[in-house]
Amino acid sequence: MSSRSIQSAAWRLLACAGLGCTHADAQDEPTPVRAPVAITDLDPDPAVMRAVLVAEPAEVEYLPGTTAAVWAYRDGGDPSALASVPGPLIRVARGTTIEIELRNALPVETTIHWHGLRVPAAQDGTPSAQVPVPPGGRFTYRFEARDAGTFWFHPHVAADVQIERGLYGALVVDDDAAPAGSFDADRVFVLDDVKLDADGTLSTTTDALDRMLGRQGNVLLVDGVRRPSLPVRGGARERWRFVNAANGRYFRLRLQGARWLELASDGGPLPQARPVDTVLLVPGERRELAVELPAADAGPLVLETLHTDRGHDIPDPGPLPLMDVVLEDDREPLPPLVWNGPAIAPLPVPEAAATREVVLSEDDEDASDPRFYIDGLAFPETSPIMVPAGTVERWRVRNDAEMDHPLHVHGLFFQPLADGAPDLARGWKDTINIPRRTSVELVARFDNVGQWMVHCHILEHAERGMMTMLHVMP
Ligand code: C2O
Ligand code: CU
Repeated sequence: MSSRSIQSAAWRLLACAGLGCTHADAQDEPTPVRAPVAITDLDPDPAVMRAVLVAEPAEVEYLPGTTAAVWAYRDGGDPSALASVPGPLIRVARGTTIEIELRNALPVETTIHWHGLRVPAAQDGTPSAQVPVPPGGRFTYRFEARDAGTFWFHPHVAADVQIERGLYGALVVDDDAAPAGSFDADRVFVLDDVKLDADGTLSTTTDALDRMLGRQGNVLLVDGVRRPSLPVRGGARERWRFVNAANGRYFRLRLQGARWLELASDGGPLPQARPVDTVLLVPGERRELAVELPAADAGPLVLETLHTDRGHDIPDPGPLPLMDVVLEDDREPLPPLVWNGPAIAPLPVPEAAATREVVLSEDDEDASDPRFYIDGLAFPETSPIMVPAGTVERWRVRNDAEMDHPLHVHGLFFQPLADGAPDLARGWKDTINIPRRTSVELVARFDNVGQWMVHCHILEHAERGMMTMLHVMP
């Protein structure tokens, strides 16, 4: 890239520092998609994945010709590996024993939380589960990949800072819901947005809007790259797995010109693949799609994110481009997708209207210092939710606030209710949007004993109070 185009990219950043503005359109040359690289498995036993993740300061190029100082994960089992955002991909078969050693080369303490995985409580990587790993320290996480699905991992200490700095990666547990050969490719796209200064470095200022809405960046990233380009065969069918790793941004995905079938939700494969036009992905959520591409003469397609009105008058910037999909020579036509998703048994919904109410609220009297509450209190003042192991509870999560909050429950999956019955078409969930001034109902069996976290996955909200503990008591 010439220095003139660097200057013009910098100028565009400066000229447009508002919330609604992003620079995904300030593209000069297409950067190819950079799929996360699979981590090195140091154990020859196929039933065991043993690997090392080093968390360390690193540099990445978010804007061409510039460098941003980040914190990132590196594959400690590969001497030639560099730290990357997102970190290495952990991919295993269901039932695999996973043993990951975290080596902390950061100047601050950290942990790894395995978002969505049903791990033993002591391996969950939260402050209620372990003493954070100090700089220079190590900790080995051990658990079994019990469920198929697309999951992710990230720190659970000062998450608003550490995830924003680049500490996150995807973890895929494969399923067998589609016969071999059903897809021409199986891809993982971790979505994020970063707030960059004009010189391409990560902005260190957190303003009142960031605190209120969750920090929205001015540069959108797909697997750590601003508006990458993805070459695909015309007429191909691919499997795309999306993770929303952003602090606060809601992605509403659309790929006009292609056909989408939703295959899997947070907790793995859906019973039936169902056609969708757009997909809303709130922070922390995952979704998998079958993407059926048109013939190459349809021309290039653009994966976009559409505006979501999530309260407080967030301005609508219109559709924003995330990735260019470039159709190359056509493949021969594929037979229709056969999808054998596992049946999901509905949980027995307790008769009582709600066995528990959880209330989300905010105090924005001082707009520069908003506070966020669960049941009227800010963590750690909240009183833990106590549930005897084995109990099925029906929760009504009531959002009294003026904005949406994506609620995440650790250690289990729940079933969202629609008109009082489990909405099985949505599959098993661990993260769900609670629209403002609305209640959402869900049902869960609390069978994973231990101390877990429940919180809003807008990271600024969680760190500013909207978090509590869940004790599943033996
Ligand atoms: Cu992805 Cu408690 O977090
Ligand atoms: Cu929130």
